[in-house]
Amino acid sequence: MKIKIENSTKKKTEIICGFVLENTNKVLGINKFDTKISAAVNQSLKDMEGKLGEINIIPVPGKNPAQRILLAGLGKKENLTNDTIRLVSGKIAQKARELKLKEFSVITPPSFVADQVLSVSQIIEGSKIALYKFDKFKTKKVNNSPNLTIIVSKSNKISQAIKTAEIIANGVIFTKSIANLPPNECTPTTLANFAKIISKKNKMKCSIISESELKKKGFGGISAVGQGSKNESKLIILEHNHGPKNEKPIVLVGKAVTFDTGGISLKPGDKMDEMKFDKCGGCTVIGIMKAVSELKLPINVVGIVPSVENMPSGESFRPGDIIKLYNGKTAEILNTDAEGRLILSDALSYGEKHYSPKVIIDFATLTGACIVALGNNVAGIVSNNEKLTKKINESSKRTTEEVWELPLTQDFMDMIKSDVADMKNVGIGRAAGTITAAAFLRNAIEDTPWTHIDIAGVAWTQAATKEKSYNPKGATGFGVRLILDYLQNL
Ligand code: BES
Ligand code: MG
Ligand code: ZN
Repeated sequence: MKIKIENSTKKKTEIICGFVLENTNKVLGINKFDTKISAAVNQSLKDMEGKLGEINIIPVPGKNPAQRILLAGLGKKENLTNDTIRLVSGKIAQKARELKLKEFSVITPPSFVADQVLSVSQIIEGSKIALYKFDKFKTKKVNNSPNLTIIVSKSNKISQAIKTAEIIANGVIFTKSIANLPPNECTPTTLANFAKIISKKNKMKCSIISESELKKKGFGGISAVGQGSKNESKLIILEHNHGPKNEKPIVLVGKAVTFDTGGISLKPGDKMDEMKFDKCGGCTVIGIMKAVSELKLPINVVGIVPSVENMPSGESFRPGDIIKLYNGKTAEILNTDAEGRLILSDALSYGEKHYSPKVIIDFATLTGACIVALGNNVAGIVSNNEKLTKKINESSKRTTEEVWELPLTQDFMDMIKSDVADMKNVGIGRAAGTITAAAFLRNAIEDTPWTHIDIAGVAWTQAATKEKSYNPKGATGFGVRLILDYLQNL
């Protein structure tokens, strides 16, 4: 999808799209339509209420710059959110694709509706992301992706916003496209190769630690979880060094279990296929790193992705095993399905030890309990630092990638104490499962400001996922826009 800007609505286009607030009978950003078509537009405005997501298309016969007009409802002005324009733009783009158009034009709403730079960014994000389709394995592809013209007065700020929004949207799309891959086509090695490819394109440092090295170097968590699979485990590290040389980096860690069967503590068969999405945390980190490098953000960021496949076999780790994690602490395994905390623990300790980061943020489809607690539209966060949580919350408000904090007090830390090792990898029954998992992670770091984001409920569309134009069935890329906003506002 190519994107360009036009100052006026006089240019030729297959369809010109405008937004309408509920019960206003006005197309935002346009004072007067050409007399030849204004009657049709007015009739159409009367025929629609402007409810959120409502779409009305008017054919325009004869010689006009636009062949069709599309009016899209934004709902009531007082109900506008930071997601409204993104959501509706996604719908418009999908409509343009459905009509098999080569291009569509969108009139930017005036600043009394929303900041224009923000609107332009949201139009691009919504349109681009909504047009992504996971059709890699369809032999017949319907992949026409119409180009977008944005009607807005040109300025440097707008041009910059367009470039940035395109990179962010591409980051989300990249994350979705690798997260959607089936487990037979995406092993830890595949993910490592994706990391290598984006590092070459965008001049990042990329290191891959192999399974044998991981074992030698004491990554006991990653080694134990991966030992049951014939697909080799990898630790993927991407470094973007565009900040001052001695400035401490931001470390991002993401769980990438390319398939989670549960291991010897085998999961039930129902929906086990969805455990291909247990790599979403890692895919989010890789997508963020791709965008960070393309945006050339003037900061230092390190992405660390522990990647394994959790399989049952004669070589698998077992309930009852006691393992030694990267930081030397020991863990009693009581359930091999609680594997994410083991691989993350190693990666977090490694990140803190080798990079002395300013901040560590991790993403993981860590616990089913998070879905019970917060459902499919809000991610759980657990942190040891209020300032960092506040920043993440601000980015969450701006991007509408929703998060909610859960507490982490000593009582929860006590719940994972083991009789025979330093910790056990499960809490007490099902009580506070998301927090006891986070308590395990908390043990991996000393005192670096850290936020853990449990994306189990939001990383892909599930039973209670709210419908969104830019999130069709499959991986959502949750976290990419959230953390890019955080990094851009440092
Ligand atoms: N990958 C799962 C968590 C998960 C389950 C995410 C369903 C999304 C949907 C994780 O590895 C896991 O199995 N966790 C266990 C932990 C338990 C054994 C303490 C869980 O949540 O049941
Ligand atoms: Mg598991
Ligand atoms: Zn898992």
